[in-house]
Amino acid sequence: MSAPAAPAATTAAAYEFAAFLGDRDTVEVFRQFVGRQLVGAAHVQRGGVRQAVSFVEKQDRSPKFIVVDVSGADMPLPEIDALADACEPGVTVVVVGDQQDVGLFRQLLGLGVADYLVKPITAELLAQTLGGDLKPAGVRGGLRTGKLVAFAGTRGGVGTTTLATSLAWLVANRMNRRVAFVDLDPHGGGGPMLLDVEVGGLGEAVAHAENLDALFLDRTMVKHGQRLHCLSAEEDLTKEVALEVEALERLFTALEQQFHYVVVDLPRRAGPALRFTLQRAAIQVVLADRTLPSLHNTVRLLPLLEGLGRRTVLVLNEHQPLKASALDRETVESSIGRSFDLVVPFDKSAPERGDNLGEPLADGRQPFAAAVRELAADFSGQRVNRKRGWRAKLGLG
Ligand SMILES: Nc1ncnc2c1ncn2[C@@H]1O[C@H](COP(=O)(O)OP(=O)(O)OP(=O)(O)O)[C@@H](O)[C@H]1O
Ligand SMILES: [Mg+2]
Repeated sequence: MSAPAAPAATTAAAYEFAAFLGDRDTVEVFRQFVGRQLVGAAHVQRGGVRQAVSFVEKQDRSPKFIVVDVSGADMPLPEIDALADACEPGVTVVVVGDQQDVGLFRQLLGLGVADYLVKPITAELLAQTLGGDLKPAGVRGGLRTGKLVAFAGTRGGVGTTTLATSLAWLVANRMNRRVAFVDLDPHGGGGPMLLDVEVGGLGEAVAHAENLDALFLDRTMVKHGQRLHCLSAEEDLTKEVALEVEALERLFTALEQQFHYVVVDLPRRAGPALRFTLQRAAIQVVLADRTLPSLHNTVRLLPLLEGLGRRTVLVLNEHQPLKASALDRETVESSIGRSFDLVVPFDKSAPERGDNLGEPLADGRQPFAAAVRELAADFSGQRVNRKRGWRAKLGLG
């Protein structure tokens, strides 16, 4: 499948390597190791996890490989967890310490740490464990992987693309996380238009699914600012296009290594790609409204999702003014056998601002924006940065 080329924009290059070591001798051993072995930008300083976190937070992209010293730390595990929160998924972390402790070693590996090196660190030890190619023996990806969040509507026009793009925008621009937005409709689901970016990238990514490294994705994805990168396509409307499940698996796996969130807008078309994506997602967001067709499809869809054992977030989107014929909320909830997790209020400015002006609906004071913030906070367990007005400062907001 082909798609228009993505504009060739690149983000700031990441440090290849950064190390934070607690004493001068270890710093020196690492400086020499880095000088001998590495190509690419490297940073070695004295410090520990706190310095590592503050360094990572100042970079556009996380270093690809981090060494951090936990010598003397009372609670190394929560500290490494905090580093994982600050880093992009997929970052390789090696921990240095002064405890010969198998229990700690196992627990660190359980957190996704690639190796644990006990001091004193020598040039020989580094050559043996990290080698010239920075591939520690235990490496299995990074500390974390990104979260795949799949949005599915229970009828056309229920607001799936609007909510998915708004969530992606908010998480990237207000929570400073890297987000991949994937419009999975090969014929074009309209997400890029709402985000005001060019269509493209999905065709190339699927065609090269076997070789999706960070560089390829960076060149192929269409950028909406620094942190939100998109994949979409607009195939010939008269052509049947099927997305292969194997290619999707490779694509999602690669995106989860590079992005904190992978937000997928699913087309309203049943089939293997839909089933696979819902199965693969960490969170499925299902949008419904107060119409009979939506209720009917919700009743058909929910039992399939419940069987998958993932988290399903059921959203009532009031995308139109309340009509006398609308089903009441209690009726809908008792028919589907569960209550809504979130109600997105009607926002009469949404079609004009979102569809025609391309404004981010998640920004500002409208109730729609508040609902998107609630959804994002729920997914991340993190508070969204808001500009603090005088009411908030006085503890009233
Ligand atoms: N809470 C809301 N209040 C007011 N309007 C809304 C709300 N949510 C969505 N809309 C509007 O509803 C319309 C349809 O939204 P959208 O295109 O996101 O739906 P969709 O489910 O993705 O549709 P499709 O089935 O075509 O993919 C848009 O004009 C959008 O601005
Ligand atoms: Mg849509």
